[in-house]
Amino acid sequence: MASKRSTADGDSAVTTDTPMGPTGRPYHGFATPSKLDGHGPARIISLCNQKGGVGKTTTTINLAAALASYGRRVLAVDFDPQGALSAGLGVQTHESATIYDLLLDPKRDPNEVIVSTSVDGLDILPANIDLSAAEVHLVNEVARETILARVLRKVAGDYDVILIDCQPSLGLLTVNALTASHGVLIPLECEFFALRGVALLIETIDKVRDRLNPAITLDGVLATMYDPRTLHSREVLERVVDAFGDDVLETVIGRTVKFPDASVAGVPITKFAPEHSAAQAYLRLARELVSRGAVA
Ligand SMILES: Nc1ncnc2c1ncn2[C@@H]1O[C@H](COP(=O)(O)OP(=O)(O)OP(=O)(O)O)[C@@H](O)[C@H]1O
Ligand SMILES: [Mg+2]
Repeated sequence: MASKRSTADGDSAVTTDTPMGPTGRPYHGFATPSKLDGHGPARIISLCNQKGGVGKTTTTINLAAALASYGRRVLAVDFDPQGALSAGLGVQTHESATIYDLLLDPKRDPNEVIVSTSVDGLDILPANIDLSAAEVHLVNEVARETILARVLRKVAGDYDVILIDCQPSLGLLTVNALTASHGVLIPLECEFFALRGVALLIETIDKVRDRLNPAITLDGVLATMYDPRTLHSREVLERVVDAFGDDVLETVIGRTVKFPDASVAGVPITKFAPEHSAAQAYLRLARELVSRGAVA
């Protein structure tokens, strides 16, 4: 999209093209992040939305890979018993230890559970269906909301960023993720009911800030599955911008079948189809988050 602007002398015949992004702001490419001298301590970011299928896992995988490609050391935490993040990064979880074992045994070293992925600089704390029992097990624990924070504290020094892929619920696991985090990223699908339930999510973040984690910030709202050809998608994005203003990230993720295809292959899109616009979008998201200071 380009807007035609008259020049200062009012000569409307002479126009300059200002490329506009889909969120109605001028398009920024964002500079390539500079190299880091050393690593850590990590900034921890939860990808959170209790609505299912909005792109939390897809964003965790591809943002993690994009940040790793810029030389950041990244740990992706699968915090959903469905284990989609682990599968999407090609990690088998039936027999190995998982995040669940770390939650249950605070003395256990997370390094025994962390596995590296096929992406340089990207490690994962995997999960499987065992994690579905965690809420029941943890409910009677002392300081049950801070268990994940205590696990991640042990490894935060080794990474520049830790991304937590939350399950679609606002239960105890998600509260643990928010309590462990410096920031939250909310993916919103550009669909009719996108904003439904977001008030409750914001309320949950506010409660966590009041009671458990005063420093937590909203790092951004990410519009996903955007289809510029449909009026519907454009209208939803407009409403999201009306509701969240500058908290809406300028980077918007388009809808494409490349994402399900990459998940089946068990690799990030930046590896599966590096030239595809969807891979470029996640690289731009990584640059935008660095430029906003959400990531080192
Ligand atoms: N931009 C996109 N375009 C097309 N399909 C996408 C896009 N992003 C994600 N998908 C697909 O949509 C489905 C849901 O995405 P994803 O698993 O990332 O959502 P989620 O929020 O993690 O879901 P859940 O709440 O179940 O954990 C997946 O099949 C994924 O491949
Ligand atoms: Mg998911």
